[in-house]
Amino acid sequence: MTTAKTIQVEDKYTPPFFRKIPVSIERGAGVHVWDEEGNRFIDFTSGWGVTCLGHAHPVITDALLEQSKKIIQNPNSGLTYSPARARLLSLMSGILPPPLTRVFFSNSGAEANDAAIKLARKATGRLDVIAMDQSFHGRTISTTSATGQTKHREKYNPLMPNYRFVPYDDLDALKRAFNNNVAALILEPIQGEGGVIIPADGYLKEVSRLCKANGSLLIIDEIQTGFCRTGPMFAIGPLNVEADFMTMAKGIAGGFPFGTFAMSEAVAAKLEPGDHGGTYCGNPLGCAVAYAVIKYLLDHHVSADVMKTGGFALDRMRKWMRAYPEMINDVRGRGLLLAIEFCDEKTAGDVAGGCLDRSLFVRQTQGNMIRIFPALNITQEDMEEGLMLLEEAIDKAT
Ligand SMILES: Cc1ncc(COP(=O)(O)O)c(C=O)c1O
Repeated sequence: MTTAKTIQVEDKYTPPFFRKIPVSIERGAGVHVWDEEGNRFIDFTSGWGVTCLGHAHPVITDALLEQSKKIIQNPNSGLTYSPARARLLSLMSGILPPPLTRVFFSNSGAEANDAAIKLARKATGRLDVIAMDQSFHGRTISTTSATGQTKHREKYNPLMPNYRFVPYDDLDALKRAFNNNVAALILEPIQGEGGVIIPADGYLKEVSRLCKANGSLLIIDEIQTGFCRTGPMFAIGPLNVEADFMTMAKGIAGGFPFGTFAMSEAVAAKLEPGDHGGTYCGNPLGCAVAYAVIKYLLDHHVSADVMKTGGFALDRMRKWMRAYPEMINDVRGRGLLLAIEFCDEKTAGDVAGGCLDRSLFVRQTQGNMIRIFPALNITQEDMEEGLMLLEEAIDKAT
């Protein structure tokens, strides 16, 4: 195929959900990808926070190959046991923040959130769900209902009943939102799609306390922040925040579609056979890849590298904020989840377009922002090259 032919076919046979970028990617290695004509690009989006070890990392390709030669899907799926699943569960038991102990696997983040909300209703016998303004939790009908952004909701009204929203990082508003029918509160420890919004110190711990006091379950969505994206294995890890459910996906399997949710022993005790399931639940192929990715993150101390490279990038971004005060309102982030907030949507669009002209993929977010979330093992050299291209694009857009 050629790029022109690929674009023609995709545009003809897929629904018009995306304003597509006219580049057809054939292969990747590390933070680099190549189009069908052999042009090289740098990927500062890691496929929307997914390819945490870069493209085509050998631990992933080896795990895929070796497990696929053994077995991909068990007879009777989740009803039979799997050493690949057991290996992953053992590894995860060492990294999950307490009191989370029981883990179930899904295929995506939305599916994990959907299940957590459903099971919170079952476990509490209550119906209401509190979610946050500006949140993003997925695109199923129940996770769209928990997503606090008009653009994702308005076309599908009426959405699921019994969901309500409070401003993120506002404890007074949250206190007013509780009643004795609140089954769950769902929130991201740092809002990713909402524009990399970091709450005040102590906020999440207080949220957890309020949930406990009200008999409501806390669902922490670590789908974007998990697996060292913000530095620690999970954003709530160092904060001593106790969740009743934690949902994960994206980086967990480095690009293989996989997700999961963990719950406490106390929650699991309220559930029973038949409460949840799914055809692929803990498919050995996904489990083998997730095991390889998490083991790599642990063995290679990727968390420390993320803090170092992320800190370097944020320092550079702060320099841009000083150099272009009329263009850049704010820069922020944790680890390798970073955002530049521009003065308006057009400027952010011009910068994102300028990056693409220079063969750099970034993600325009919430109109006036650019989100940067490259592979976690990006080298200093690749980071510097990407930042140089981004700086050129900003300069050109002035
Ligand atoms: C915080 C958060 N939750 C849930 C999702 C949905 O995950 P998925 O696209 O795998 O369904 C996303 C995706 O961007 C996300 O960022």
